[in-house]
Amino acid sequence: MAEKAEIGVTGLAVMGRNLARNLARHGHRVAVHNRTEARTRSLVEEFGSEGDFLPAYSAQEFVDALERPRRLVVMVKAGGPTDAVIEEFAPLLEPGDMIVDGGNAHYLDTRRREKALRERGIHFVGTGISGGEEGALNGPSIMPGGSAESWEALGPLLTDIAAVAEGEPCCSHLGPDGAGHFVKMVHNGIEYSDMQLIAEAYDLLRSGLGKKPAEIAETFRKWNEGRLDSYLIEITTEVLAHTDADTGKPFVDIVLDQAEQKGTGRWTVQTALDLGIPVTGIAEATFARSLSGSAGLREATEGVLPGPERKALTGAEADGFADAIEEALFASKIVAYAQGFNMIQAGSAEYDWNIDLGAVARLWRGGCIIRARFLNRITEAYAEDPALPTLLTADYFRDALAGAQTGWRRVVAEAARLGIPAPGFSSALAYYDGLRAARLPAALIQGLRDYFGAHTYHRTDRSGTFHTLWGGDRTEVEP
Ligand code: 6PG
Repeated sequence: MAEKAEIGVTGLAVMGRNLARNLARHGHRVAVHNRTEARTRSLVEEFGSEGDFLPAYSAQEFVDALERPRRLVVMVKAGGPTDAVIEEFAPLLEPGDMIVDGGNAHYLDTRRREKALRERGIHFVGTGISGGEEGALNGPSIMPGGSAESWEALGPLLTDIAAVAEGEPCCSHLGPDGAGHFVKMVHNGIEYSDMQLIAEAYDLLRSGLGKKPAEIAETFRKWNEGRLDSYLIEITTEVLAHTDADTGKPFVDIVLDQAEQKGTGRWTVQTALDLGIPVTGIAEATFARSLSGSAGLREATEGVLPGPERKALTGAEADGFADAIEEALFASKIVAYAQGFNMIQAGSAEYDWNIDLGAVARLWRGGCIIRARFLNRITEAYAEDPALPTLLTADYFRDALAGAQTGWRRVVAEAARLGIPAPGFSSALAYYDGLRAARLPAALIQGLRDYFGAHTYHRTDRSGTFHTLWGGDRTEVEP
């Protein structure tokens, strides 16, 4: 009988196909399977020479092709299709076998599936995989959850195909059940925020300084040589420099200005609300996409709502404004990451995952969409103090925020004055100032809640719970 495969991939759309090729290119014997046979055949026909593929044309054949304990990677669309694949394969598996879900699943679905399969003796390993098509083929960032036992069997294979940053593989076990998919969800939330901030910087350079897309591409190219060095800034230069072949116009001018989403940013915000963690950068980015997509609302208001005419700054007013935008971008990005890491900390505490934030920073340094030079700084910050309450107070970031502050405030004020929406920059600054404030107006909110609903309050000068008899003689009682 033919030698069995070390691992199998089912679901051979572009991500699954590229992941299978990546495994094969690293010398692993890979069983490949797809619901429709044609994809399996074409993978083997086109790329069979890259490594050792074992095509399977039925679920049973696929399962039989795998050595035990079986390692079966599912690369199908998150949601119903994942459940359907599990239902198809689970009855064919034996205790100790592993199903790896490499899609963008909701971590609560992953927890549910992990529990149900655990009862059948099967390991379900929710695994975040980032890096798009190219990453899947040449080295993604991999965020596995699931049992420690499954990590022992899967770790060497996943680590082998992951991206490498600073000599270290961008893959480590993040914690049990949904930990991996939770971290991937927050990764995507940060991705939303990063892109929104880049878009605001572009808008300010364009409307606020009157620069053309090709010039702005150059500005980003220059920024990418400094502390903002990242994959998203790099591809921003490509997209902005691109000309539409049909019209000869800048590509960015012929694309409909309505951002879409598959939903991971929305899940991040929904989850953050439940956890009580202010991820304002991600929330603003997600809502900015919703606003852009509210075509009817925008049509009904454009030209109706009064405000400043879009007019570029000139002369002394324009001096140093581009540098200030770079500062606003960097500072707001720091805030967004700080919020995202706090959310992972809160999720980890809520579900007892024991996630190592330093490990998260390390595996985001390469392969993933938000890979960036400054993740080295985050790695260092958590290496120095794993219990850091917020990244903002780590030396490097505190100093960077101090240095960027004047420019950041200038940009937020100027955006408001010019009527250029900058929800990412301004909400990041409001968060920063909120944390800095010795007193917040929340005291007044507590007073109002006590007034209309007897919701009680705490005092600054002594412990206890208090209520003022607002409708009576206004004496204070301890209910
Ligand atoms: C990645 C990406 C990937 C995908 C996002 C896009 O890490 O490789 O995040 O998962 O591009 O899901 O999400 P939206 O369609 O919601 O923008």
